[in-house]
Amino acid sequence: VKTVLVSTGGGRYDVVVGHSLLAGLGAAQARRVHGGQVVVCVDDNVAPLYLEAVTGSLRTEGLSVSQIVIPAGESQKSLARAEELYGILYDRGLHRSDTVVALGGGVIGDLVGFVAATFQRGVRLVQVPTTLLAQVDASVGGKVAVDFRGAKNYVGTFYQPHLVAADLDVLASLPPRELRSGAAEAAKHGLLGGGSLLRRVERFASAGATASAVTEALVAGNVAYKAAIVGEDEREVSGRRAVLNLGHTAGHAIEAATGFARFTHGEGVGLGLRCALWLSQRLTGLSAEAVARAQALLDGVGAPGRLTGVTADEVIALIARDKKASDKGVGYVLLEELGRPVVGVSVPPELEREAVEWLLTR
Ligand SMILES: NC(=O)c1ccc[n+]([C@@H]2O[C@H](COP(=O)([O-])OP(=O)(O)OC[C@H]3O[C@@H](n4cnc5c(N)ncnc54)[C@H](O)[C@@H]3O)[C@@H](O)[C@H]2O)c1
Ligand SMILES: [Zn+2]
Repeated sequence: VKTVLVSTGGGRYDVVVGHSLLAGLGAAQARRVHGGQVVVCVDDNVAPLYLEAVTGSLRTEGLSVSQIVIPAGESQKSLARAEELYGILYDRGLHRSDTVVALGGGVIGDLVGFVAATFQRGVRLVQVPTTLLAQVDASVGGKVAVDFRGAKNYVGTFYQPHLVAADLDVLASLPPRELRSGAAEAAKHGLLGGGSLLRRVERFASAGATASAVTEALVAGNVAYKAAIVGEDEREVSGRRAVLNLGHTAGHAIEAATGFARFTHGEGVGLGLRCALWLSQRLTGLSAEAVARAQALLDGVGAPGRLTGVTADEVIALIARDKKASDKGVGYVLLEELGRPVVGVSVPPELEREAVEWLLTR
């Protein structure tokens, strides 16, 4: 078991990473998070697999445990679903010192985290991420949100959990496509962090990037990297946290261009990272060797090799819309070297188009 301490203005908490953690969740939680009533929220894919282990473990600690099961899928990240959850928590008499457990992937983590942050201005929150994406990325750092009028994560806040427990064993049941989606975020962290983190993600890729190739060191290394960034810039004001958007400018536009239906988030990010590497070679001096090494890593984690089914115009229009919608008005996060990101790079429109066209034809 590896424990990473996350320390921000909004809270200090442990991220515990290891095998067979669900059975010990009650004990781990009782040690760190006090309070009597616990409500476990989960989606209907994860419920039959892991809900009993979690509630059983919490009950062993003498806690009063109930559950809420909602359908799976991004469409659940809505104000309507959040309001329904408020109603259930209200009816169950949840107090500020009680705890909500988000058992699931990033959708459950974002939705339930948002509800926990806002119900009575904040009840205790424990994240039990069950996808690789949620373990290496979404469950850490305190961003919680729902979608609004088709815009992803448009209504939300920052709310740090009180504990994160990432059990690697649950990844065994994850569909391979979802595993690859999380692996793309791990690759992003490797490219941003460089050094030993990059080598660790490369070893994961060489080992086939399967669930059994996920190690404590890989997940804990990703969490430690993100924790360091978030510790410096919890609310994305100084620009430090913005590095985490590497690959997300084009990635997000690619997801949006297909109505968030055709690509998983990680597939969009994988393609967006390829695009950012191409631009980095031309704009920020990333060497051809570094680009080749990074593209090979993306191949190794199973990122899509090329963009299909959309036009360059569609993607470029959505990138422009994204830029306008964000108050930062910023450009891209690019790399000068592996492990050396730069933020706010403005990319000439013709080069942006060339990059997207390259992605469509490579
Ligand atoms: N808050 C953040 O910092 C942050 C960062 C990245 C992504 N996100 C958000 O995360 C969401 C995507 O998260 P995700 O990729 O985890 O998707 P998800 O939560 O939809 O999970 C993917 C699928 O896998 C199923 N599943 C989950 N765990 C499983 C398991 N162990 N075994 C079998 N099936 C399992 C789910 O039911 C779902 O069908 C997006 O909404 C995105 O905006 C948030
Ligand atoms: Zn992402």
